[in-house]
Amino acid sequence: THSLRLGVAGLGTVGAAVIRMIARRADALTAATGREIRVTAVAARDRNRDRGLDLAGVRWFDDAAEMARSGEVDCVVELIGGAEGKAKETVEAALAAGKQVVTANKALLAHHGAALARAAEGAGVALAFEASVAGGIPVVKALREGLPGNAVARVYGILNGTCNYILSRMEREGLTFEACLKDAQALGYAEADPTFDVEGFDTAHKLAILTSLAFGTTVDAEGVSVEGISRVQPLDLRMADELGYRIKLLGVAQATEAGIEQRVHPTMVPKSSAIAQVMGVTNAVTIDADAVGELTLIGPGAGGEATASAVVADIADVASGLVRPAFGRPSATLRPSSRVEMQRH
Ligand code: HSE
Repeated sequence: THSLRLGVAGLGTVGAAVIRMIARRADALTAATGREIRVTAVAARDRNRDRGLDLAGVRWFDDAAEMARSGEVDCVVELIGGAEGKAKETVEAALAAGKQVVTANKALLAHHGAALARAAEGAGVALAFEASVAGGIPVVKALREGLPGNAVARVYGILNGTCNYILSRMEREGLTFEACLKDAQALGYAEADPTFDVEGFDTAHKLAILTSLAFGTTVDAEGVSVEGISRVQPLDLRMADELGYRIKLLGVAQATEAGIEQRVHPTMVPKSSAIAQVMGVTNAVTIDADAVGELTLIGPGAGGEATASAVVADIADVASGLVRPAFGRPSATLRPSSRVEMQRH
């Protein structure tokens, strides 16, 4: 069988880690998938930046959408980010050209996932997005492949490493929100615009994707009620502590009589609970399903290597010829967001 030719769009921390991982794991990936996987093209804006990558023999594109349309790649790995602009143009161009797509782009999927999934299905190609939620935790696989015999009642978790890092340090060291945010940015966890992290939008994007997988609904980011952590004070954390609680930014999706409810807000969780033990940049997702009961997956939610681990899992699926519908077929209704329920703790 012929090799799988990858075009990597975006050479930031994750893109560089993916390229190194594919080289390092070449033999194992071929053994697992039966195919050779090669990076044949890359696209990024700054051709002269030293990324410490050996790109000898790899075609460089200044324009990712042009790479997506070129005949030199079978699968486009979109690591540009952002719901609109070049990332969207690149994924749309790839699907229109009948290319497989692997993406880590939660914002793009949260806002345009339904349309992109239709395009992928129409073209008969994969639209894979394990890395879009909870970094290195294989939660997309768990929900999609691991639980077909279950009805899911609820899925919730800590989905933003930056927020959990900030809340953990505020609690342990009594630091202000602003000081902790600066450190999270310096460590490279935060989004380019940290408002996405701290105001809960990044969590909402990831939650919208999880909701769709868990309940077979259409991805709907607008339907998520969102409150972030920027108003949490050290005093709030101390008061919670005295009562036996920690404050975590949770994304929660659950089945109610009125439909599936999706919300993001700072939540008091008992210190004895599994989710309260999760500190720092770590993420955690709890799935509550009727047959298996409660499952909690804990692991790194950000960072180049951990996120590349999820991207490479998707690439291996594509190389193996696995093409699944990106999201479930709508079988339940989403409940419109309700501000009233969002009054904090
Ligand atoms: N800014 C995100 C976070 C990165 O802090 O979790 C991973 O999506």
